[in-house]
Amino acid sequence: MKSIAVFASGTGTNFEAIACACEDGRIPARVALMVCDRPGAQVVERAARHGIPSFVFSPRDYAGKEEFEREIVRRLDEAGVELVCLAGYMRIVGSVLLGAYRGRIINIHPSLLPAFKGAHAVEDAVAYGVKVFGITIHYVDETLDGGRIIAQRAFPYEGSDPAEVHRLGQVIEHQLYIETIAKLIQ
Ligand code: GRF
Repeated sequence: MKSIAVFASGTGTNFEAIACACEDGRIPARVALMVCDRPGAQVVERAARHGIPSFVFSPRDYAGKEEFEREIVRRLDEAGVELVCLAGYMRIVGSVLLGAYRGRIINIHPSLLPAFKGAHAVEDAVAYGVKVFGITIHYVDETLDGGRIIAQRAFPYEGSDPAEVHRLGQVIEHQLYIETIAKLIQ
């Protein structure tokens, strides 16, 4: 059985969807590790409920990004992780983690990249007046929401409520992430 890791900083609905898909066989892998940089985030509780080992840390307990990424890499290696899935991990991946896992780290982003990078993609797209929204899954490199695109799915929405776009997008995110991970892991 192949091992994957999921990184998250917040709510963790994508984490939950991935964990369930691993449990019921839609993804032929197990979530060997959940990594979270925010103690107290809801995703930590979700991992515990699924019995998934987690590494939860506070960046301020480390001298810098290189130090906590070295610890992350050590734990990924130890767990035999083959694919790292970022799911709401609100940090730019640094040289240590990329050096060890480049080409094996993917991210999900709530816009049709390269449009609307960053943490407020949905709000920015609504403010711009976009009528076709979407989700992107891409390989991670050292740039914000950069890296080669693996999968995209679009959906029309003509309103102006970001919360509604988040709701519509979330359903697509979960489906697309599960399908994409299943394909990549095979
Ligand atoms: C998702 O919208 C994802 O696209 C973005 O962060 C959000 C994570 O949501 N990168 P959740 O924590 O999985 O619910």
